[in-house]
Amino acid sequence: MKTKLSPSRKKIRTNGNGASRVSRSVSSKARRMLIDGEWVDAVSGETFATYDPATGEIICQVAAGDKKDIDRAVKAARAAFESGPWRKMTPSDRGRAIWKLADLLEKNLEEFARLESLDNGKPLTVARVADVPLAIDLFRYMAGWATKIHGSTFPISVPYAPGARFHSYTLREPIGVVGQIIPWNFPLLMAAWKLGPALATGCTVVLKPAEQTPLSALRLGELIREAGIPDGVVNIVTGLGETAGAALAAHPGIDKVAFTGSTEVGKLIVNAAANDLKKVSLELGGKSPNIVFEDADLETAIPGAASAIFFNHGQCCCAGSLLYVHKKHFDKVVSGVSAAANKIKIGPGHQPDTEMGPLVSEEQLNRVMGYLQSGRNEGARPVVGGGRAGKRGYFVQPTVLVNTKPGMKVVKEEIFGPVVCAVPFTDPMEVVQAANSGIYGLAAAVWTRDVSKAHRLASELRAGTVWVNCYNIFDAALPFGGYRQSGWGREMGAEALELYTETKAVCVQL
Ligand code: NAI
Ligand code: MG
Repeated sequence: MKTKLSPSRKKIRTNGNGASRVSRSVSSKARRMLIDGEWVDAVSGETFATYDPATGEIICQVAAGDKKDIDRAVKAARAAFESGPWRKMTPSDRGRAIWKLADLLEKNLEEFARLESLDNGKPLTVARVADVPLAIDLFRYMAGWATKIHGSTFPISVPYAPGARFHSYTLREPIGVVGQIIPWNFPLLMAAWKLGPALATGCTVVLKPAEQTPLSALRLGELIREAGIPDGVVNIVTGLGETAGAALAAHPGIDKVAFTGSTEVGKLIVNAAANDLKKVSLELGGKSPNIVFEDADLETAIPGAASAIFFNHGQCCCAGSLLYVHKKHFDKVVSGVSAAANKIKIGPGHQPDTEMGPLVSEEQLNRVMGYLQSGRNEGARPVVGGGRAGKRGYFVQPTVLVNTKPGMKVVKEEIFGPVVCAVPFTDPMEVVQAANSGIYGLAAAVWTRDVSKAHRLASELRAGTVWVNCYNIFDAALPFGGYRQSGWGREMGAEALELYTETKAVCVQL
């Protein structure tokens, strides 16, 4: 499969300016956070370290915001919402500011790609063609929506008011102050997915980046100011999940919380929000089935299945981590995906030939190693991989597991590493049942040449996204989100605007 997400070595351009800008921006001085248009330290003066996952060395210190900083940021966002110019400016001016942010991001693409690769570990070649361009595109898409958010008019027939005439219409209003908590797997892109619709609808924001990867969001904060987005509209508080994140989710001064991350923390967010019934949207885990049918084109299905799991080192909520293959092709597909795994060049993200970098953190390395151990203990067998790669940094070998059984942890739970379970099937109905049987429902894919079967399966699979003869295709116009425990609501597309607006019905007697 040729997706736009596979790095093209031909396209590598090294940009000296970007590189030096990165080293300047990650100097030994602790990075401050953005509250009310000012770069500030945490009230406590505390900092935390962000690490280079390729070496385990500290990149720099970052302000460790907690409850007090969240409180300051929420107050700033509230003031900017209630009395600042943001909500009152014309939709066209708001759209223009978001478009300018996209232009600035594009101007600094190389720097952002390097920052993302350094902090998260992903290959620079991938950040350049996927993470940053997708974020730019998302802001442009949402800039266009700013002028197209509107209500409707309704002819009404009130039975107890005979003869009366009414003019009735709806208004779409910004939901207010929004708390946004994002993960580390696509740090800049997740910030864009969250900020884009919030800004387009006229909301104000307190954004908390993941503690593993705060750097690109902080640099984005500089561009947000440069784009002329008024002070207090976007506040960025860096800090740990249990302190800053929990304080944000529970804060009575916000109207809505939007979260991307683990299903476990998603449930904590719901509980925290229950107190004052603030609105909640969630984009959570997945265990996505990728199904290769008897009539599939194996030339595309095999590389497609490999990229479905190995892209971003398997650290994707929609990773194709359950590979169901028709019995007839099982050996061929398993050996093809294993051969692809063997060929993947593992290395630090900044090296031009790296195809897979380290996992994001020591914690994630240990989590994935724990799953590999549990798989072995329960009888699964790695055809390829199965262990750590190297002794330094958080590298894991791309792994294909066979001999799995439905109840095993590696089959049921999200591993969030480059580990796929390959499972043979014969009956198409049974495989759909198996694919629909887990707790998640984020994504699914089918590989088949039969167009009727493709559409039938697309309707039968209980997942927020179904890919047919492709995988990991994202676009700002396509809604993304999960059924069941994979989440609440949809990001991107027009659907995302629903999460950031309230609908008001107005009824005027004429
Ligand atoms: P996590 O859910 O703990 O972290 C995601 C975000 O939530 C971070 O910004 C973190 O600071 C924040 N957070 C953590 N605890 C919080 C709390 N009590 N209240 C409010 N915010 C909180 O995810 P973690 O621990 O980094 O990874 C664990 C697993 O979660 C991964 O192995 C993977 O399975 C899943 N995950 C899923 C992601 C997705 O895209 N759906 C992204 C990252 C992780
Ligand atoms: Mg956690």
